[in-house]
Formats: sequence, structure tokens, C-alpha cells
Amino acid sequence: MPTIEFENVSKIYDEDTVALDDVSFTIDEGEFVILLGPSGAGKSTMLRVLNGLTQPTEGSVRIGGKELQGNRSEVGMVFQEHYLIESKTAFGNALSGALSRNGLVRSALGLHADADKMTALEALQTVGLLDEAGQRAESMSGGQKQRVGIARALVQNPEIVLADEPVASLDPKAARDVMRYLKKAATEQDLTTITSLHQVNIAREFGDRFLGIRDGEVIFDGDADDLTMDEMDRIYYGETKSGETIPTGAASGEVGETDAEADAATDGGGRA
Ligand SMILES: Nc1ncnc2c1ncn2[C@@H]1O[C@H](COP(=O)(O)OP(=O)(O)OP(=O)(O)O)[C@@H](O)[C@H]1O
Ligand SMILES: [Mg+2]
Repeated sequence: MPTIEFENVSKIYDEDTVALDDVSFTIDEGEFVILLGPSGAGKSTMLRVLNGLTQPTEGSVRIGGKELQGNRSEVGMVFQEHYLIESKTAFGNALSGALSRNGLVRSALGLHADADKMTALEALQTVGLLDEAGQRAESMSGGQKQRVGIARALVQNPEIVLADEPVASLDPKAARDVMRYLKKAATEQDLTTITSLHQVNIAREFGDRFLGIRDGEVIFDGDADDLTMDEMDRIYYGETKSGETIPTGAASGEVGETDAEADAATDGGGRA
């Protein structure tokens, strides 16, 4: 059974900005999906709709067969900015992921069940930070903070993890580390994961499936072999360099760095 279903979903902001334009797709349980596309394509909007942060203007979004209504606790979110509490330890930050399950009052009073504390430690272990559990966020590197952000999402005990450019502000090595831990968590806990990324090289290493978004439409849906240089140019520039029309299911093969890939990698690296 598909765990995520988008059916003819459109999102129109301010009457004339069409952020999503009649988008339909399904994602099966356990898939690790990466959203690619130029700035303004609609990637964040898609993730926000899934997380219940934004209402679609038209269409239907279902998770586990149920119509999406409001914020769902089974959906964990990792952001570009980590939003950790700097003065809290890695453990304290991870534990705050239990908030959506326990309610604000109990969490504010620090009334965390031992089970939650165990879950927080396990989540830190999953992201390779068990030894740093007692370290304050303020003294951690950007990559470590993002990994704590992943741990916090895992403590929520989600079925789905959404990540909006989780590695945009990191150097390539730290970015790979974060993606490796995200993938490990997804595999170990059988999570369905959707991540938007601007670093196409890194995306190719980790994604099982790629959705290419352009002008609010899904114009590519395939695996790493399908994601040829021409497809990448079509996603990022709207056409191939030679202006050719691209047949679907293009032949797989050795893929070098396209203009799109080089640009995207530079863009991504420059974001703070
Ligand atoms: N809250 C909003 N109000 C009005 N327009 C918005 C809002 N959020 C996004 N948009 C517009 O919707 C379109 C899609 O934006 P979105 O943020 O989803 O793109 P994106 O693919 O995430 O881009 P980026 O790669 O820069 O993060 C853009 O034209 C954007 O300006
Ligand atoms: Mg975005």
C-alpha cells in the first residue's frame, strides 16, 4: 500500500503564484525519495503540504490511506536550520522530540518517561552521537547539530521523515555524513523519507528514487540510472543544452557532472 498519495494537488499562493500545479504521485513505505529542482520549483511547498503546515488549494493528500488534516505526529521534520536550543545538550534537544507525543505541559515540566529517555539515547546512537549526548548544542559543529535534529525527529517515533535541504549549509564532507546517518536511520527504522537537496552529486549517492520538480510540476520520476545529464538539464534548465526533446526512460550509463549539477552543487554549498 502506498504510504503517501498526492492526487491532483495544487497550491496557489496569493491568487497568482502557482507553487504546485496538479501534482499526482504515490510513495511506498520505506522509500528514500529525493526532491530535485531549481529554486522556486515548489519543493518546500510539497514538504510543507505533507507536514500539514500548508493547506493545498486543490486536490487530496493521504498518508496511510487517511486524508491529511493538520500537523501529524507520525511525520517528523528536519529543517535546513537546525532549530536546536543552543544551551541544551544533544540529549535534551533529542528528547524534545517527544513533545509532540507527550503534550506541551508534561514536556515543559520535564516529566519525560524513562522510555522517552531511552528512545532519545537510541536516536543519538543512530546518528553516531551517543558519546556527545551530554555536549551542549552551542559547542557542536553544523553537521553534528543537523544529526541532533535528525535524532529529535526520530524520537517523535515517526513513520515518515521529511527533510527540507538538511545539508544546504554544510561542507560536502559534513553533508555526506549527515545524509549517511539519515539513510541509516531510514533503513534501520523502515522510515519513508523525502528530502529536498540542491547538491545533486550527494543526492545521487543516497536516493532510491528522485522526483524532479519544475514550475510546480513533477517532470521527472525515476532512479539514479534514469537521472541522466539530459534529464538533469531538463529539471534545472527546462531543456537540454542541445534543445532536444528527451525520450522518457533514457538509457543509463556513466554520468558526468552536468552544468545543472555543477550549478546546483555551488548553489547548495553557498547557502548559509
Ligand atoms: N508563503 C508563501 N507566500 C507566497 N508565495 C510563496 C510562499 N511560499 C512559497 N511561495 C512561492 O511558491 C513558489 C514555490 O516556492 P518553494 O519555496 O516551494 O520552492 P522551492 O523549490 O522550495 O525553492 P528553493 O529551492 O529556493 O527552496 C515560489 O514561487 C515561491 O515564491
Ligand atoms: Mg525550498
